Parts: sequence; C-alpha cells; structure tokens
Amino acid sequence: MNNTPNKEPYKKLELSFLESKDGSHTLLRHDLNETYHSHNGAIQESMWVFIDKGLNYLKEQNYTSIKILEIGFGTGLNAILAYQFAQKNKIEIEYISLEPLPVPLEITEKLNYTDFLEEESKTIFNELHRVDWEKKHQISPYFSLHKIETTLEDYKNSSDNNFESQSDYNIENYFDCTFYDAFAPSKQAEVWQLSNLQKVFNLTKENGILVTYCAQGQFKRDLKTAGWTVESLDGAPPKREMVRAVKPI
Ligand SMILES: C[S@@+](CC[C@H](N)C(=O)[O-])C[C@H]1O[C@@H](n2cnc3c(N)ncnc32)[C@H](O)[C@@H]1O
Repeated sequence: MNNTPNKEPYKKLELSFLESKDGSHTLLRHDLNETYHSHNGAIQESMWVFIDKGLNYLKEQNYTSIKILEIGFGTGLNAILAYQFAQKNKIEIEYISLEPLPVPLEITEKLNYTDFLEEESKTIFNELHRVDWEKKHQISPYFSLHKIETTLEDYKNSSDNNFESQSDYNIENYFDCTFYDAFAPSKQAEVWQLSNLQKVFNLTKENGILVTYCAQGQFKRDLKTAGWTVESLDGAPPKREMVRAVKPI
C-alpha cells in the first residue's frame, strides 16, 4: 500500500500554479508544457464537461447511484465537484480514480478550489488528497473514494503491483460513467489509444457513458471502433465541441 503520494521516481514532477479565467487555479506541468485544465476556467470546464454533461445527464435518467471511473486524479478538482454533486442530489457515488503521478500534498493544499466550494465541501477537498491510496474510503454516506496509483494502460493487468487492490473492480460492466480527463492526445497519445478505449468499454455497464473535453477526430473514430456510440456536444465555452460516448445495449 502506498499512502505517500510523493514517491521517489516522481520527485521531479515540476509544477507551477496558474490562474485560469474564472479565477480558479490550474497547474502547469513543465515537462509536457501542458496545464491540468483549460485556461478559460478550470472549474467552469470541469462543471460543464464532467458534472453537467456527465452526472446531470445520468441524474436526468433517474440514476440514484453512480459508479465513476476517472482517468487522471490530478488536482482532485473533478472528485470534489462530484462529491458536491452527490451531497446536493443525494445520489450515491462510488469514485475510483487512476493516477500514475500524484500531485504532492504541499501543492494540492495551495490550490484555491475551496474558495469556490460550498461551505460543507471546503474541508473535504484536502481530505480527498490526504486519504491513503489503494484503499476505498467512505468520505460521506453519499461518496466513497478509491485512488489507485496506476495508469489506465496498467489498470487491471496482472503484471501491475496494485492488482490485488484493484481486484474489486476487475469485473466487466461495472462503471456507469468514466471521466476521461487525461492530458491532450498531442501530449500523451498513449492514454487515448484504442486498447484503452476498449478497456473502458468493457468496464462500463450498458447505457453507461464516457465524457471528455476532447473532440479530436481520431479519438472519435477509435471510440466508434471500440463499440461506443459517439455524441458530439457543445464544449465548455469557448470550445466548440466535447464528447459524450454511450455504451449501447
Ligand atoms: C489533464 S490532467 C487532469 C487531472 C484531474 N482530472 C484534475 O482535474 O486535475 C491529466 C491527469 O492524467 C494523469 N495521467 C497521465 N497519464 C495517465 C495514464 N496513462 N492513465 C491515467 N492517468 C494518467 C496525469 O498525471 C494527470 O494528473
């Protein structure tokens, strides 16, 4: 088990803070020259893509519990917004998040997301970062979090060291919703590869969805090849497009 996100090989993760246009922070990863969120508003984009087009869409279909797989825990922004959604709507969320390079606590504690959160969520943000990895934590009656230190490529593979802790989820048709929030294909093409989209397809229940800010042509074609039905939706302004993919029955 690893409860220290600052593991030796990742010491060199060089990050700096940026303020996006809605005032919320994002991080710049120096080696990729890429930010964790849109410059146009980190919270704005997360709310639009993952909460509205993902969780609200499922709520409208009368889901009373939602199992989420997140690709890239990163700053924990999607997780805390999902927590708020669960509390507000009294919908039970089981949140499983994959992250090969956890952001150090000394950085996450300086992110300004709590300034934008509802009062009762403010203390929860740091808790989401502080809880141990490789373990499920019941954060509230409506929200559990299990962070797994791995890539999507390695997730569920028997060669992975964390295989044992992952075995609960090593079943097909488990998730209702995947937040596909990796760095852009131009920066990390391997995360968007067809085999990953097939893997997530197999892990998803029928009628379950995958939501992402990405609307790249090859990605959409690969989603279709993997079996997904692809919907192009309006992106978080000013982006033209985003994708919601549905696993057909
Ligand atoms: C665009 S950031 C977004 C992170 C997060 N959702 C947030 O709101 O901060 C992408 C994240 O994906 C992680 N990542 C990179 N490669 C990955 C992989 N192969 N599988 C899963 N996550 C990956 C990165 O380390 C990074 O934290």
